[in-house]
Amino acid sequence: MKKEDIIKKANQLLTPALIFHTDIVVKKAGGLYVEDASGKIYMDFSSGLATTNIGHCPPRVVKAAKKQLDEIIHSGCIFRYNSEIELAERLKEITPGKLDMFFFSNSGAEAVEGAIKLARFVTKRQGIIAYTGAFHGRTMGAVSLTTSTAKYRRNYHPLLPSIFRAPYPYCYRCFLGQNPDTCGMDCFAYLQKMLKHEINPDEVAAIIIEPVLGEGGYAVPPKDYLKELRKLCTQHGILLIVDEVQTGFGRTGKWFACEHFGIAPDIMTIAKGIASGFPLSAVVSTKEIMSKWLPGAHGTTFGGNPVSCAAGIATIETIVKDELLDNAEKVGGYALKKLKEMQKKYPVMGDVRGIGLMMGIEFVKHAPSGTKTGRDKSPDREFLKKVLNKCYKKGLILIECGIDKNIIRFMPPLITKMEEMKKALEIFEKAVANSSA
Ligand SMILES: Cc1ncc(COP(=O)(O)O)c(C=O)c1O
Repeated sequence: MKKEDIIKKANQLLTPALIFHTDIVVKKAGGLYVEDASGKIYMDFSSGLATTNIGHCPPRVVKAAKKQLDEIIHSGCIFRYNSEIELAERLKEITPGKLDMFFFSNSGAEAVEGAIKLARFVTKRQGIIAYTGAFHGRTMGAVSLTTSTAKYRRNYHPLLPSIFRAPYPYCYRCFLGQNPDTCGMDCFAYLQKMLKHEINPDEVAAIIIEPVLGEGGYAVPPKDYLKELRKLCTQHGILLIVDEVQTGFGRTGKWFACEHFGIAPDIMTIAKGIASGFPLSAVVSTKEIMSKWLPGAHGTTFGGNPVSCAAGIATIETIVKDELLDNAEKVGGYALKKLKEMQKKYPVMGDVRGIGLMMGIEFVKHAPSGTKTGRDKSPDREFLKKVLNKCYKKGLILIECGIDKNIIRFMPPLITKMEEMKKALEIFEKAVANSSA
């Protein structure tokens, strides 16, 4: 089918609820690169929404999946099979703390559903605390925890009851209007007050947090926030759920982002990068917690698909053998430094932040030079659109995030070479320079 026909038919056949980030019709993808129907090559700095962490169609993954296809494709919890158990063993080695038991499912949202069910079942408490600005998925339970935008919740009420909301420590746009240099983590004090005013700690099953805010704005919390949160949860017997769906599998230069903060959760949700694009996710917890989730309390038909699990094993193997965590740290560190240098030249780049290969650049309206008002932090979505368009024309795919869609996510795969990063930064800087009035 021709590109125009595919787009036309897609508009006729696929629901308009789904938003596509580009109009590229892909012919073939490999590693960092995607070729469109006309033969144009793009550098994919979107990583299929933080999923193709080791690039498109990685050879070891393709080989492992093909082998598995010849053995068994589906079990539906009828049979046991090797790839699921081998993957669980590999995950046990790389997940933090005492996490050593798994429930495999298919998507991030499903893992989040599983995590809150596990927490409620085991603690016999109902309350869940989530964060303003968070994204945890689109199913009814997950969207009840999601407030990255009210648009995702519109017309779906009533949502899950007994969900409470604390302000995410998003310092550039503090929900409490504070300045991070002087506030003494007021947002944490707010959470503590919630446990007096809104719900008693002994009624809270879990607190769920993204260790780096994803869809909500690529914001990195202050180092101590997660440490304090860990202590608070332990003190009250609240289970700490860390949602590593977007941040996991080397995205931040470590296997999981919570490692940067020196904490381990009671429950972790993982998906996206786990199997290089094959549908797979997991609720991860300790034997102690999982053993209280009684037989039949949760289930799945497709979860832990044999082919997806084989792809997951090969994905982990590739990250280890090709030393991709080190690469993400090195190439990401370089990019962050360069982006911060650019920020000094272009005040429209209001904030540059991130860890490893998970970086956010926030475009803001700025006062004309010579005025005393300094920089205005109001979001500049129009500027972002110009930059994305220019990058796209030059063969660099970047995508946006944040409540005002004024933040660029710089999230290339972990295989990105230094030379490729330099080329992407050059395209990006030219796009910023040429979009400035
Ligand atoms: C942190 C986080 N949790 C959950 C999800 C939901 O994952 P899925 O789209 O696979 O359901 C996402 C997706 O972007 C995410 O970023």
